[in-house]
Amino acid sequence: MNATPQTMVQLNGIGKTWPDGTRALNTVDLEVPEGQFCVILGPSGAGKSTLLRAVNGLMQPTEGKVNVDGIELTPGTEKALRKKVAMIHQHFNLATRASVAANVLSGALPDVSLARALCGWFHPEQRAKACHYLERVGLKPDHLRRRAGELSGGQQQRVGIARAFMLDPKVVLADEPVASLDPKISRDILALLRDAARDLNATVICSLHQVDLAREFGDRIVGMRDGEVVFDGTPDEFDEQRLNRLYHNADWGDGEPREDHPEAEAEPARHAAMGGA
Ligand SMILES: Nc1ncnc2c1ncn2[C@@H]1O[C@H](COP(=O)(O)OP(=O)(O)OP(=O)(O)O)[C@@H](O)[C@H]1O
Ligand SMILES: [Mg+2]
Repeated sequence: MNATPQTMVQLNGIGKTWPDGTRALNTVDLEVPEGQFCVILGPSGAGKSTLLRAVNGLMQPTEGKVNVDGIELTPGTEKALRKKVAMIHQHFNLATRASVAANVLSGALPDVSLARALCGWFHPEQRAKACHYLERVGLKPDHLRRRAGELSGGQQQRVGIARAFMLDPKVVLADEPVASLDPKISRDILALLRDAARDLNATVICSLHQVDLAREFGDRIVGMRDGEVVFDGTPDEFDEQRLNRLYHNADWGDGEPREDHPEAEAEPARHAAMGGA
């Protein structure tokens, strides 16, 4: 029998009120075990990006605590934790005029001194790793010297994935990583992300708008609306009725509890079952 995977990301009572008064997150509690591919779904403005950015310290919550790999995220630990938490973006966030190779190597920058980074000096092992990941994501050697901005969207996201894995992350945050791509390429990219994460037993937290992809790739689906987690379960449990509630029925208007955590009573067993690869 497999041991229960350890908690990799833990959000305790996370709240975020922006200076203009917008309540983007309202007391969110979330535990994501090691190795899980956790998909965040929810309508626009639900707080998905805000939640992802809480995990790597890009967004300072107004309340609550974030723990990654057993360490609380604080100004003192943020730098060290950033090395463990990689991010993949919807619009790739590549340096479009720089080469593909330079973009992938930039994923190692948190581990390189400023002087070396300014000289473009990377350790041979880092260069070998960049080549490994470029191959892993299906790019060819002749892509290496091309400007990243010349690549197709799907190829650019492959570069984004290779960059994200340069420091052997424990956690990969992906904020709508396939929103700009066609359905076939989207599936390929998510498969790459899932498989690369499995190789490392890395935890993935990935926001998506495509429900079919969420069901296909997620070990678990977390549904958010108005800054709150309103569904937390397996893809099988996320049926049409729950989908409609998440996207179309703001008040869940049938008198049922607002939060929907199927099998919450079987929590330990479920988390073990959903523990990834
Ligand atoms: N810097 C900011 N200042 C003020 N309000 C913000 C800021 N960033 C986000 N918000 C607000 O916080 C709420 C949550 O935004 P967030 O970007 O997390 O939603 P989302 O679920 O990622 O939406 P989408 O699916 O459109 O990306 C929204 O009401 C948004 O307008
Ligand atoms: Mg967003």
